[in-house]
Amino acid sequence: MSRTLIFGGAFDPPHCEHVAICRAAMKELGADKLALVPTYKPPHKDGGFLSFEERRSLVCKAFADFDFVIDDLERERGEDNCSYKVLPILKERYGDIVYLIGGDSVAHFESWKKPEEVVRICSIAVAAREGYGDVACGIKALQNKYGGDFTLIRYEGKDISSSLLKARLLLGEDVSELPSDVLKEIRNRGLFEEYGPWIEKLKEYQSEELFEHSKSVVKRAVQLNSKHNLGQDFVGVFTAALLHDNAKQRPSTDGLPVPENSLNTPVLHQFLGAEKAKRDFGVTDEQVLSAIRYHTTAKADMSTLEKLIYTADSVSDDREYEPIPRLREIAVNDFEEGFLAVLAYTYGKLTARGGGIYPLTREAYDFYINKVRE
Ligand SMILES: [Fe+2]
Ligand SMILES: [Fe+2]
Repeated sequence: MSRTLIFGGAFDPPHCEHVAICRAAMKELGADKLALVPTYKPPHKDGGFLSFEERRSLVCKAFADFDFVIDDLERERGEDNCSYKVLPILKERYGDIVYLIGGDSVAHFESWKKPEEVVRICSIAVAAREGYGDVACGIKALQNKYGGDFTLIRYEGKDISSSLLKARLLLGEDVSELPSDVLKEIRNRGLFEEYGPWIEKLKEYQSEELFEHSKSVVKRAVQLNSKHNLGQDFVGVFTAALLHDNAKQRPSTDGLPVPENSLNTPVLHQFLGAEKAKRDFGVTDEQVLSAIRYHTTAKADMSTLEKLIYTADSVSDDREYEPIPRLREIAVNDFEEGFLAVLAYTYGKLTARGGGIYPLTREAYDFYINKVRE
């Protein structure tokens, strides 16, 4: 009897790991058909870079070696595409189905809508993923709570995320984790080139080393956002991280409003950075500007985006000196712990150095570490 593997996702863009886990899962589950189900966001909500049609066309390139169908169910339905609603329809269409999810989804499965119904609809196959803990243990816990038929696929996927690949494409980097035909299509269609003008401008404002740092912060921020499911808008994360140091090497205030007590100090560039991101790059999103404005000092009661940029800036890959690799590891394992570790380390370093601590940093320390609340 024919068995169909169901694999959904944004495919923004589809990458080699998507292909590899489908291949492994089909083999292990004895599935002879593959139905790919791209997620759909109505155009007015699509803050990303690729339209449904573009993602669909890249999926065709990525899976060209498979006997597959692309199911447009989510586009047909429009907005409300929870698994417990979509899977019964797919079951009707394909008969015996197995629903393939990534190991990262096991950690969030309980936050899905009606997980107890999802497990009753069909078997679920889980592809483990590097860096996401003990998936077998996670599956056991789900099974104990909800029942259901889970299979752990023996293939362990590399920790590749579409959002990180997307960030690298937007930064103009080479990306070897994409099937070559996907990359060719991206280049032919001129996709992911939106930030070219900003990048050229930023390069004029930064030394090569500082530009490399900016790129590292983008990649770390995007990675932490997706790894920890922080839910921050991709464009906001990308913009704040890319521009956080845009004023670092151009300290002239040009009459822009910055706090008096930041003049001639290392923290000036954060305030000026927010003002110049507005003036020179046209950034208007207040949350993004605020993340730039406090990326060096931190402050009390920060937003998730502010914490994310602050943390990513401190643990970006271009910083190899002690104790940064250890702090990076903490942040990759636990976002809040990582943020606190960075704040504690920075505060300790500034105290040891003498010469005063900027008031906002002291307030951040009191708020988060000393837990002094007004
Ligand atoms: Fe900075
Ligand atoms: Fe920085």
